[in-house]
Amino acid sequence: MANNAARVKSVEESVRDTEEPEHQLKKNLSALDLTVFGVGVIIGTGIFVLTGEVAKTDSGPAVAISFVIAGIVCGLAALCYAEFASTVPVAGSAYTFSYATMGEFVAWIIGWDLVLELALGAATVSVGWSGYLNQLLGDLGTPLPTSIAGEGATVNIPAMVIALVMTGVLILGIKLSSRVTSVIVAIKVVIVLLVIVVGVFYLKADNYKPFVPPAQPGAAGSGLSAPFIQLLAGFTPSTFGVGGIIAGAAIVFFAFIGFDIVATAAEETKNPQRDLPRGIFGSLIICTVLYVLVSLVVAGMQRYTELSVTAPLAGAFKSVGLSFMSSIISVGALAGLTSVVMILMLGQSRVLFAMSRDHLLPPKLAAVHPRYGTPYRITIITGVIVAVLAGLIPLGKLAELVNIGTLFAFVLVSIAVLVLRRTRPELERSFRVPLVPVLPIASALASLWLMLNLPTETWLRFVIWMALGIVLYLLYGRRHSRFSVRGAAEREQAGQLPGGS
Ligand code: ALA
Repeated sequence: MANNAARVKSVEESVRDTEEPEHQLKKNLSALDLTVFGVGVIIGTGIFVLTGEVAKTDSGPAVAISFVIAGIVCGLAALCYAEFASTVPVAGSAYTFSYATMGEFVAWIIGWDLVLELALGAATVSVGWSGYLNQLLGDLGTPLPTSIAGEGATVNIPAMVIALVMTGVLILGIKLSSRVTSVIVAIKVVIVLLVIVVGVFYLKADNYKPFVPPAQPGAAGSGLSAPFIQLLAGFTPSTFGVGGIIAGAAIVFFAFIGFDIVATAAEETKNPQRDLPRGIFGSLIICTVLYVLVSLVVAGMQRYTELSVTAPLAGAFKSVGLSFMSSIISVGALAGLTSVVMILMLGQSRVLFAMSRDHLLPPKLAAVHPRYGTPYRITIITGVIVAVLAGLIPLGKLAELVNIGTLFAFVLVSIAVLVLRRTRPELERSFRVPLVPVLPIASALASLWLMLNLPTETWLRFVIWMALGIVLYLLYGRRHSRFSVRGAAEREQAGQLPGGS
């Protein structure tokens, strides 16, 4: 196994695979499309929902600093993603990057890990969408019964419907998806700007005092829900204070998830070397600025202890007597969350596509639709899984699992940049991380540090999920991999050419 698992798929092999006609995706995205895509997936549940919860339970009005910290960690990782995406412009993001550097086993691990970010993330946001839909219907006087909508539903019907509708849009083709995205992204950015511009007139200086509430002991019995780092260091679990700001950063990190997905569209980009770094940084910078402003405004409009944990933006406007803004914000949130669900699923289908093309998953799944040019089988499977998860599982706490999975991918991609600089120094890199090795190492450590600030129970769930992935690799991927000697021999016996599906 040691040999197989260390197999590296060279950058040239990765690029060549994308040129096979039956596995070819259409190349029609520009830097602007990518930025819109990025903003489309980044602004979502994080700012519309988590701001209130984090201000109330972790950071107080200093939630804006939590956003800044999470933004810096993401900025460091974005440098590494940009270098990789400009060197290996192939679908699959972190999965492809690791295959090209650290070998098949690490690649599988990361592909498996990305399911937490993408499929589970899409399901989490679908549940949030359902909550906002019900809030809007409630404002209009016709809420759905709570048994079929919102966080506590037995079967969350709207969450399932949104996941399945977005699956259909994705199958019809990426250009259509990107057009749909542009419209909804515009609506959501306008609403976020409206929150800032209107909200700024309702700030009360008293609400910012104290800006950093003093540290307090955590609730009794909170051992497993306290940050893992407190357990490791033997601290008594506490909230607020500086520790609270950092624990808050590990949670609002969710709000930034998505800029890395821009890299998964590498293969569908006209000029990936130039446009990918632009798309990644463009979307990340726009979102960081908006988040810091929104969180400052919301915490200034309403005392942090009174912020709503389900709809803090709408709640803050209601608290100053602007109830009509609540419905407007709900419409913006609905539009915003729609595009997040869609692009997270797009990212998931592209990662699974790359994995099946490498035969770590059954290769038939990677077939591209003859008319729409999209990997329809994988997309349908992704959509059904997301819909089932969103419909049946109460996902409140699971956002933290999405975060840990994403941060882990960031750690590996940062290390992979260093590895590829050493193993393939001659490759053309139109974007290079400055100050190597300092920045990639800082990036890996920063992501690890946020991981350690997530709750212990999240770590337990993460370890179980990854262990399951390792078992699956040993049972399937290791033997069937396109690069496995044994797999090649088996395919030859079956009369299949290498690379056929
Ligand atoms: N960043 C995305 C959101 O906040 C996942 O919904």
